[in-house]
Amino acid sequence: MNVASLCHGTRSSVVFQIMILLLGGSGYIGQAFHTELHRRSLEFLSLSRADVDYTRFGDMVAVLKRTKPSFVINSAGYTGKPNVDACELHRADTLMGNVLFPQTIAQACEATGVPWGHVSSGCIYAGAKIVDKGVTRTEADLMKPDVAALVARDPSCVQGFVETDQPNFSFRRPPCSFYSASKALAEEVLAGFEGLFVWRLRIPFDEFDGPRNYLSKIQRYSKVYENINSISHRGEFARACLSLWEKRAPFGVYNMTNPGWTTTRKVVDHARDILGLRREFEFWADDEEFYRLAAKTPRSNCVLDGTKLLATGVMMRPVEEALEDALRQWKPQSSQTSNL
Ligand SMILES: NC(=O)c1ccc[n+]([C@@H]2O[C@H](COP(=O)([O-])OP(=O)(O)OC[C@H]3O[C@@H](n4cnc5c(N)ncnc54)[C@H](OP(=O)(O)O)[C@@H]3O)[C@@H](O)[C@H]2O)c1
Repeated sequence: MNVASLCHGTRSSVVFQIMILLLGGSGYIGQAFHTELHRRSLEFLSLSRADVDYTRFGDMVAVLKRTKPSFVINSAGYTGKPNVDACELHRADTLMGNVLFPQTIAQACEATGVPWGHVSSGCIYAGAKIVDKGVTRTEADLMKPDVAALVARDPSCVQGFVETDQPNFSFRRPPCSFYSASKALAEEVLAGFEGLFVWRLRIPFDEFDGPRNYLSKIQRYSKVYENINSISHRGEFARACLSLWEKRAPFGVYNMTNPGWTTTRKVVDHARDILGLRREFEFWADDEEFYRLAAKTPRSNCVLDGTKLLATGVMMRPVEEALEDALRQWKPQSSQTSNL
């Protein structure tokens, strides 16, 4: 492998000791890291499996020894296309990409003493914590009529899951999707290693119209599914991940969502108002109809608490602000060159 030929940073007289190694840079989230690394003029090497099979322990260790990165970003993984239902059919690939592969990186980074960050997901949870008459309980289904009524009356009763809460949408706590369960299992495996960040991303969106963007998906669904969620602006997510590393924040698990939560209905309303959409949006009547006609495996809908991230001094904008801004800056697919 000709390592120098793979360097995409702006400082081409390469000092490998300050170099960052990006895995999965060809993917939707990897592209956001690409953009942010460029913006910061950081030297980095973006590896694709087409260049070197970084999923193999021996190859990974060889790359680490040769390039001596100061930090590794793992944005690679198996998400299922066009959606997580595909992971139900491709279970071996899902486990390989989301569990065995992160474990391999952990072992390779441990063997070479390189710190790293792993893109996990908030989809290991269902629901939120609800504070009702001074008592806090976990509700996995925020659309249950009594819970929805409570939330409508007092939105402040919703509290997000914190990093130390056990996943409740996982192999240990079914029902769940195979995809979510694989992400939860990876976190369990990685908990045995030191020197890494676990960054929990959730429903990425931004102003770039495209098949992976939540705001595009909402506009293209024939019918939409009402629920309550925390979500992550894709660019802000990558920025915040890198800031944690640059600030030398303590390693560990971080919820990386824009503070707060939103509902599908609010997103639709904002999209209609700001983009001037004329279409009427139809909603699935209930879960029964949604799962009978549109989805195969259970979907995670959840709220995450971002206090731990904010306490490090790394900010993400409140969710409403980030959403509105993305819609105001909206770049339809036809006007873009890059639309992963
Ligand atoms: N997109 C979301 O909605 C979302 C939400 C929460 C969390 N995440 C997590 O974010 C990470 C990146 O997701 P993404 O949406 O960017 O996925 P993506 O667009 O499918 O890109 C993933 C990249 O990972 C690499 N890869 C390495 N091993 C793989 C394997 N066994 N199977 C498939 N791809 C593999 C591929 O790059 P090369 O072949 O070039 O190496 C691929 O381009 C994943 O860990 C995912 O679980 C995503």
